[in-house]
Amino acid sequence: MAEGPLKGLCLELQDGAFPLLHEIIATTNTEEAFKDADVAVLVGAKPRGPGMERKDLLNENAKIFKAQGEAIDKVAKKTIKVLVVGNPANTNALIASTYAPSIPKKNFTALTRLDQNRAVSQIADRLKARVEDVKNIVIWGNHSLTQYPDVNHGEVIVNGQKKKIREAVADDTFLNEAFLARVQKRGGEIISVMKKSSAASAASAACDHVHDWWVGTKPGEFVSMGVISDNNKYQVSGNLVYSFPVQCKNGEWEIVNGLPIDEFSRKKIKATEDELLEERKMALGN
Ligand code: LMR
Repeated sequence: MAEGPLKGLCLELQDGAFPLLHEIIATTNTEEAFKDADVAVLVGAKPRGPGMERKDLLNENAKIFKAQGEAIDKVAKKTIKVLVVGNPANTNALIASTYAPSIPKKNFTALTRLDQNRAVSQIADRLKARVEDVKNIVIWGNHSLTQYPDVNHGEVIVNGQKKKIREAVADDTFLNEAFLARVQKRGGEIISVMKKSSAASAASAACDHVHDWWVGTKPGEFVSMGVISDNNKYQVSGNLVYSFPVQCKNGEWEIVNGLPIDEFSRKKIKATEDELLEERKMALGN
């Protein structure tokens, strides 16, 4: 079933005339696909069908990401960097990592850069600022409706002046309600108008994620990535793939610990953690 779209993708990759594309191996065999891989972007997951419960979706995806984790464990480089895009991305990344015990857990990540980019562009639009002048918005937690897009640590340049985002927007009700809902529900908004999931913006965010992980983040800036929650200082339980602010250097990410968290944020950070704990229980039974 995947062969038709795969063939089409190869034709498009050829047509892109990408200077760094030297060879394409088109295969539906996981071991062939992951052999000696340095980076894997896992985009294929089973979407929710009519009448399907979240638990059914997690069970179906657990099978896919278990098989991919096992193949990665067997044939990929032990230094492989894995980005999971297919939903439920955070828990799928945790499942793949669980079945790849010979690869460090920190090498499995999930995409929340798409949510970060969405949040940045909403703020830029609101303030008539440029997207590159909006920095350090954090996405906490799950790539789902419970995610928490947090502007409290962010800055923006408006009319040549650098300001905290909260000061520049000067509308806490908007930031704590309409803005949050817009970013949280953006994936659904796209599905409702296009009748399919985001594609171009998701692909672009995946490139941003892998680029920054590999090449490093800019000095003084952080980005959001779903990463293993062990050793975070935000009271989030360990062994979840949870989106945190991270900085990347020499091909490694590190959680930016020590950001001040107010009461409102604490509740949001906890609510999305609770959802991930529930997903983990459904998918892995613990
Ligand atoms: C998105 O955020 O655009 C997608 O993850 C939505 C979806 O459920 O496919």
